[in-house]
Amino acid sequence: MGDMVKAKKSPGGPPFFDVVEQRVSVRKYKPDPVPEEHLELILNAARLAPNAGNQQPCRYLVVRDRGKLESLKEDSVRHRLKWLKEEGYEVPEEGELREHYDDVFSAPVYVLVLVDTTVKYKGYTDMDGGIAAAHIMLAARALGYGTVFYSGSVTEELCRKHFGIPEKYKRVCMIPVGLPIDWPGRRKRLPLKKLVFHEKIA
Ligand SMILES: Cc1cc2nc3c(=O)[nH]c(=O)nc-3n(C[C@H](O)[C@H](O)[C@H](O)COP(=O)(O)O)c2cc1C
Repeated sequence: MGDMVKAKKSPGGPPFFDVVEQRVSVRKYKPDPVPEEHLELILNAARLAPNAGNQQPCRYLVVRDRGKLESLKEDSVRHRLKWLKEEGYEVPEEGELREHYDDVFSAPVYVLVLVDTTVKYKGYTDMDGGIAAAHIMLAARALGYGTVFYSGSVTEELCRKHFGIPEKYKRVCMIPVGLPIDWPGRRKRLPLKKLVFHEKIA
């Protein structure tokens, strides 16, 4: 009994399946700060996520610095305009795109999920990062916060440049955490009967 690890007191919150139902991607936030103890609960949920061989390659870069976030936003607008042009997509007005990125960068805090690519079993680090991100998003929702998994919207290269991320880390995603202006509706999913196969898949 003496060696038993006692779980920290649970913060409570809604039942698990309600959290899963209620988590939706949020892309516009109120500026209200996220208290440190909430962020710690969220990051602890990521720490406890399953990961290949328990190598624990994930690192979490927490960014609140408005100056850094603003300059990343400006670069993201420029980068997106260039990319849309190059790819031959319809290019919006710069002002319209900036408004979109004002929303992307409206959260009070961002968690970047990074993975150490120098670990022994490298083939699994992206999966580890994805699972950790899911834990972050669900834990945040349990505490009443919105999140979204940003990948291409804010590129790895620009995050590397603006936050000085060393070469050995790959950035998996950038997750805003904050109170939504509004909770978006749930996006439709295919019904289970189209997704689940028993014993054999056609
Ligand atoms: C691997 C991955 C990459 C994503 N990248 C982006 C992104 O770059 N920009 C964005 O706005 N949303 C991104 N999302 C969020 C998805 O668009 C969103 O989860 C999906 O539309 C389903 O909506 P829901 O999360 O509200 O259920 C990403 C999600 C995942 C899992």
